[in-house]
Amino acid sequence: MNQHITNDHATRDMWQPMNHPADPFKNPPKMITGGEGMMLKDADGRDILDALAGGLWNVNLGHSCEPVKQAMAEQLAKLPYYSNFRGSVNDKAVELSHVLREWLEPDGMARAFYTSGGSDSVETALRLARQYHKLRGDKDRYKFISLRNSYHGTHFGGASVNGGARFKRMYEPLLPGCFSVPAPWTYRNPFDESDPERLTDLCIAALEAEIQFQTPDTVAAFIMEPILGAGGVIPPHASFMPKVREVCSRHGILLIADEVICGFGRTGDVTGSRHWGVKPDMMCLAKGITTGYFPLGACMISEEVAEVFESNRSGDGVVAHGYTYSGHPVGCAAALAALAETKRLNVTENAAARGDEFMTGMKALAEKHELIGDIRGGEGLLMALELVSDRKTKAPVSKDIMDRLYQDIYDNGVIVRTSANTIILSPALIIEPGQVQTILNAVDDGLGRVAA
Ligand SMILES: Cc1ncc(COP(=O)(O)O)c(C=O)c1O
Repeated sequence: MNQHITNDHATRDMWQPMNHPADPFKNPPKMITGGEGMMLKDADGRDILDALAGGLWNVNLGHSCEPVKQAMAEQLAKLPYYSNFRGSVNDKAVELSHVLREWLEPDGMARAFYTSGGSDSVETALRLARQYHKLRGDKDRYKFISLRNSYHGTHFGGASVNGGARFKRMYEPLLPGCFSVPAPWTYRNPFDESDPERLTDLCIAALEAEIQFQTPDTVAAFIMEPILGAGGVIPPHASFMPKVREVCSRHGILLIADEVICGFGRTGDVTGSRHWGVKPDMMCLAKGITTGYFPLGACMISEEVAEVFESNRSGDGVVAHGYTYSGHPVGCAAALAALAETKRLNVTENAAARGDEFMTGMKALAEKHELIGDIRGGEGLLMALELVSDRKTKAPVSKDIMDRLYQDIYDNGVIVRTSANTIILSPALIIEPGQVQTILNAVDDGLGRVAA
């Protein structure tokens, strides 16, 4: 590391995403300088076990996936960049589209539209949804419905369908025509219903009611994460997404699956939609598609949706949307290698098995620590522990406790993510059983210390 770069520079010279610009002065961020496998190296030379796959559930294959690094280096040497806008394509983008089509055929996906990340993929899906209806002559269908507690990125479109007020309040007014319905979150919901199946039916009834209230012929799309991620990791009951699919199909509403976190093995299946046995109309991809080594995303499009654009003869089918880095050849080379490694290492199966071990360990922690109000997971490597100061009232623990816990766990050699009163665990899909235990032990010790 450049010896002149210290944490003081981090506080003076840059603002962090999702943080108050003054916070780093009080809570200096950990400075990460290296990574190997599941491990990180910090600026003090400490080895830290990464329990969140690069901090943002994206480095699915760990920090030293050599085939991906090599593919990127080779592509840089051969063709570092060429555009995919009208008139040309680069060969890697075309090759990746073919591979993605094969991977996602069981999900009904047939075309790829590339982006630079998750927010871009969501923006693309929302725009294409409106255009799809216009092309079919359904010109009033412009509204979007989403789930509360969802997270769909921070572009104005994505923020408008986000289910958390904190991503919206300071940036309003947002996109008109965006509405939300309760998420199937058994621990906190407006129906006071803790049974997942009954809650599913209540949430589906609320969705149906919202569609009727808006009038179905004005609704363009419903967007959802198969398992809600950044909103606190909320896996729905298995019947939820299939029931959403049925409602959307009945009303001619497109179903957009935001697979930015769930895609490529994290749920223990190739996609979250497949995990629930659902074929959406579009899918948003990013993060794990390159195991986080290059900012690339894609909006995947079903054959039926594609057909409406491709058969259009009026010129309105032109997709007047795209990014300079849509289908960047280095990103596509990274994705091709990452997908090949995902298959070769069978990380999807590992995610399912290690996820079960986490749940067993988390149940034991919940029995031991009064601070744990709820544990969530059980569908691959996507877990959360929600902390409360009182189990009866479910009052969240203070930010001070969360800050101390984050530090205590780090002192135990593990980095986790804390979001509001929740500890989020989402390690790389290559994690081994012993490392699952190390993470659980660090959390156990941290909880013991903050409670003392
Ligand atoms: C489900 C989901 N959608 C969209 C996004 C936005 O992706 P990005 O940060 O790459 O723009 C995220 C990011 O965490 C996400 O979790």
